[in-house]
Amino acid sequence: MALLNENYLKLKAGYLFPEIRRRTEAFVDSHPQAAIIKMGIGDVVRGIPRPVADAMKAACEELAHDESFHGYPPEQGYDFLVEAIVEHEFGSRGVTISPDEVFLSDGAKCDSANIQEIFSVDQVVALTDPVYPVYCDSNVMAGRTGEADDAGRYGGLVYLPCTAQNGFSPPLPEGHVDLIYLCSPNNPTGAVMSRQDLGRWVEYARSEGAVIIFDAAYEAYISDTGIPHSIYEIDGARDVAIEMRSYSKTAGFTGVRCAYTVVPKELMVGTQVGDEVALHGIWSRRQATKYNGVSYPVQRGAAACYTPEGSRAVRELVDFYMSNATLMKSELTAAGYTVHGGDNAPYLWIVCPPGQDSWGFFDVLLQQAHIVSTPGAGFGSAGEGYVRLSAFQQRDSVAEALKRIREL
Ligand code: MLT
Repeated sequence: MALLNENYLKLKAGYLFPEIRRRTEAFVDSHPQAAIIKMGIGDVVRGIPRPVADAMKAACEELAHDESFHGYPPEQGYDFLVEAIVEHEFGSRGVTISPDEVFLSDGAKCDSANIQEIFSVDQVVALTDPVYPVYCDSNVMAGRTGEADDAGRYGGLVYLPCTAQNGFSPPLPEGHVDLIYLCSPNNPTGAVMSRQDLGRWVEYARSEGAVIIFDAAYEAYISDTGIPHSIYEIDGARDVAIEMRSYSKTAGFTGVRCAYTVVPKELMVGTQVGDEVALHGIWSRRQATKYNGVSYPVQRGAAACYTPEGSRAVRELVDFYMSNATLMKSELTAAGYTVHGGDNAPYLWIVCPPGQDSWGFFDVLLQQAHIVSTPGAGFGSAGEGYVRLSAFQQRDSVAEALKRIREL
């Protein structure tokens, strides 16, 4: 009989979002009349911007003709898209990235799960708590941890508690770590890392020879002008950081799938015998073997986000979701809730009412208000006592949800 990778047996529970879906479906089965409002998983609800959809349509038409057909895409992405990314996402903020440092993919989730594969299995990993579960679970699957304790914390991982006391800003580890996952704007807390915060982390990584995996999937939601959108806005970050971005929450691509990871050529890691190797070439080799690239119509759609009409439409979409977040924050605060996040991120991190833990408040919201939230404990033990609400909803659903919460 074939043997299992038993690291999978260490995984504490089902992946958070399927578990929420399971509980929600069970409730709906027994309450078929309930008008459920989904504010749990951060899935967008509005249509793809028209210029982006039109570009994808035109690209599909090209594929229907021999003379304009496209087969396998270039491994890292078509020039028309990577050059637009380099110019509009980075150049516009004074950051120099070379087009061949950009690797297109089908999601920041996949990239942030896959990236650990190119590091030695004995590396010490630091994660924030609460954390986007993918960073943790992918390292558990790879065998970089021991078993989980009763609080769900895995042996061998270094947890960086992000609490109201520290403004949800991850503290530096006390000792040495090799890999650090940071996410700003943060999923789930909605907190952002300042230039000083990021500067401290870059300095730490440089002095410890560590690598930062920086998830910037929500950078378009930053409204404070002083907050960096890219870790490469910090001097010295190119030597120590990999960055991930996504079109999911900007162009409505959660179903379409397109994202990218930047691996600077300066970023070196060691081997057991003391040699230095550039991660850029290793990630390129990994992707070339395991991945066949993003489809041509999707890349055309992503590129259309950078035309004048496309970028205006994407901005309107992001502004729409952020105006939901602003409304939610002000009304929930007025209703007596303590609410974090929601200023530079589409997530609100809400303190549970006294006497309720996060799955308890999740159940109250589901059963009494018919609202799906995400229990903070699902993101780690420091998430206990919070629920996360997503601002990715239609405005009338947001207004209805707020009314129901006020009436609880
Ligand atoms: C979330 O709700 O945390 C996100 O939708 C997850 C994701 O982007 O994979």
